[in-house]
Parts: sequence; C-alpha cells; structure tokens
Amino acid sequence: MNRIYIFTGKGGVGKSSVAAAHALKSAEEGKKTLLVSTDMAHNLGDIFGVKPGKEIMTVRKNLDIYEIDPTYAMKNDFSEYMDYVKKLLQMVDDSEAMGMIPGMEELFSLLKIAEIYKSEVYERMIVDCAPTGETLSLLKFPELLSWYMEKFFPIGKVGVRLLAPFSQKLFQVDMPNKEAMNEIERMFVKLIDLQEMLKDREITSVRIVTTPEKMVVEETKRNYMYMNLYNFNVDALYINRILPQDIGNDFFDQWLGLQRGYIEGLRESFSSLTVYEIPWYEEELVGEANIRRIVNDVLTDEEVFVSKVLTQRECFTATEDGYQLDIHLPGAEKAEIELFQGATDVVIKMGNFKRNIPLPNALRTYPVSGAKFEDGVLHVTFAKEETDDAEK
Ligand SMILES: Nc1ncnc2c1ncn2[C@@H]1O[C@H](COP(=O)(O)OP(=O)(O)OP(=O)(O)O)[C@@H](O)[C@H]1O
Ligand SMILES: [Mg+2]
Repeated sequence: MNRIYIFTGKGGVGKSSVAAAHALKSAEEGKKTLLVSTDMAHNLGDIFGVKPGKEIMTVRKNLDIYEIDPTYAMKNDFSEYMDYVKKLLQMVDDSEAMGMIPGMEELFSLLKIAEIYKSEVYERMIVDCAPTGETLSLLKFPELLSWYMEKFFPIGKVGVRLLAPFSQKLFQVDMPNKEAMNEIERMFVKLIDLQEMLKDREITSVRIVTTPEKMVVEETKRNYMYMNLYNFNVDALYINRILPQDIGNDFFDQWLGLQRGYIEGLRESFSSLTVYEIPWYEEELVGEANIRRIVNDVLTDEEVFVSKVLTQRECFTATEDGYQLDIHLPGAEKAEIELFQGATDVVIKMGNFKRNIPLPNALRTYPVSGAKFEDGVLHVTFAKEETDDAEK
C-alpha cells in the first residue's frame, strides 16, 4: 500500500534534511516518491538546488518535490469550501472556535496531501513539516473542525438541510443555502476521510526528529505525548547532530558526555520505536551529495520505510460491568490530565491541548466510573448507569 511519512520536530533540528534523505533513498529504491513541504518557510528547493514554482516539480528519476502554498491550493482547488466553513465557524460564538480560523488555510495543505495520496501517483509521500507547535495544530485541526461541524449540524444523522430554518433563528446568521449546505456536507466527509487517512496505521507514519540537547529533548517528549493523545502513529525517532566520539578536545569531551546522557534518556523514553542516530557533519547539508551522507551513514537499514509500530494508542474494550478506554500518554504527569464527560464524548485536557473523543453509541448511557493513570496509559472506565429498579 502507498504510504505517507510525516517528519516533525522542533525548529532547526533537521526535519527538512532528514525528510530529504528519505526521499532520495526512496527514489533510489525505485519507488515513485513525492517530497512535500507544508512549512510556509519552504527550503526543499534550496536543498536540491532548484527553484520550484507552485506546482509539483520533478528533480530526478522517481523523485518529485512540492512546496505547498496553502493559499494557492485553497484558491485553486478548494475555493468553494472556504467561505462556507468560515461562515460556519463564525456562528460558533466562543473564543476557541474563532481562534481556529487562523489554522484554516494550512488545512488546505493537508487536504492537498490527501488528494495527491488518493490519486495513487506516488508510492511514498514524504512530508516535511513546520516546527512542532504548528504541526500539532495542523494535525489536530481536521478533527476539531469536524467536531464543531457535527456539533452544530447533525451531519450524517438527521440531514443538514432539516436543521437550517431552526439554526437561522438560533444563531441569528444567514444560513448557507441548500447548495452551500451540500458543500458543507462534502467538506465534512472530506475532513473525516482526512482524519482516517492520517491516523490509519497502514497509511501514515509520524516520525520525530530531535537533537541531544535539554530543551529539545523535553519538547520532543511533549510532542510524542500529544501525538499519542491524538492517536497518531509515531513509529521512529531520529537523533540528529551527534558529535564524533574521537575529537580529543576537553571542550568537546564535556559536550560528548552531555549528548551521551540525552541519547540514553531518549532511547529509554522511546524504546518502543525505531531510533536512528545521525552524526553532526562538518558542513551544512545543502545539495544532494550532502543529503546522501545521511542515506549512506544512517538509513542503511532495509526496513527504513517499514512501520514496525502498528498498535492503536487508543482503544475501547469491554469489561465485566461496562467498558474501558485506554489512551497512551507517555511522559504525561497525572496532575496535568483533566477529564470531562459530555453527552456524546469524553474530553481529555492537557495543557493547551484538548481532545474530544467521541463515544460509541453503545456507551452513551454509560457514565465514566473511574480513571487511572498508570505507566503512561490513561484508563477510563465506564459502567452502566444504575436504573431506579436497581436502586429499589
Ligand atoms: N547532521 C547535520 N550536520 C550538519 N548540519 C546539519 C545537520 N542536520 C541539519 N544540518 C543543517 O542545519 C540547518 C537546519 O536543518 P534543517 O533545515 O534540516 O532543519 P529543520 O528542522 O527543517 O529546520 P526548520 O525548523 O527551520 O524547518 C540546515 O542548515 C542544515 O543543513
Ligand atoms: Mg525545515
């Protein structure tokens, strides 16, 4: 099956270089590959010494690059959706929804990636992302938006159009006409598709790039935890800029010791993933020849493109008196996890991140009966509500 590899990590750690190395290796294996960047500050062109325009560009056999301009994609490919979605969001009168609008345009990068994936032109798509924070908001956006859409329009349940006259009164806005509502329904389906594609273990791998330094290591662990909160399939870690062991200089010996400590720590925290170590080279990784050094030195494993971690990081199981939901949150602190139950979902809040996990219909009459955080896994139990009969 064709696959998507998403490279994420803190600013400047080497995401673009590592992504480009994978693209080169993949093309050389004879796989039709697209290296695509969602970072507005694109630099794929610089790495390959070309000037890509707004469309896909071939740089060598089996390798195309594409620097997505989401505004251009929005205008050219998805213009009809934009106005309706904006209108829809403006109806949701709370600050969170309004705050979502700035992420709107980047969403079109993901929709574009999904469209290209579906065209089946490429066997592998390597995605070079913007630094962590932006990538996280980007990846969680489709879920958030579709959640709002479903909340305000029972899409797929009652049929959107039935609700229109009612909503008009309630929200005091011009409801989109019938045609527009069809567009909203189509957009909703697209968002659901996109989410499924991004979370499908058989399709998407998320790979984190890091460096052995305190601040970066800390952010890497948080990033991994949030990726798990949203149930993305993180399956490899790349530790970049590792100093050579034989410098023989006191100043660097100190740094070597520090790096070694962080590398060990990372290997421990990410022991379930494949971990790659990349040397610190004596020059910047510009140009194909330099990028190839990573391919030759590090990506020697034949299984670089094989995802070894296919387990779901979130699952419901039946228990004796109800159900249990398990969510992997490696590295989280118990005190920072907040849990709420709504009518149709459970809400998990950690720092600035909030995830609404929809409850299966069967569980909607089961209140949360307990929650426990153990070994990096949050267990939420649901027990059948006691009926009056049972109380008698
Ligand atoms: N292992 C390495 N050895 C030497 N130079 C490196 C190494 N890895 C990355 N670089 C250089 O460091 C700079 C940043 O790397 P890169 O652009 O790949 O990082 P990035 O994570 O994509 O950055 P951004 O967050 O800005 O997109 C580049 O100049 C690159 O050539
Ligand atoms: Mg980059």
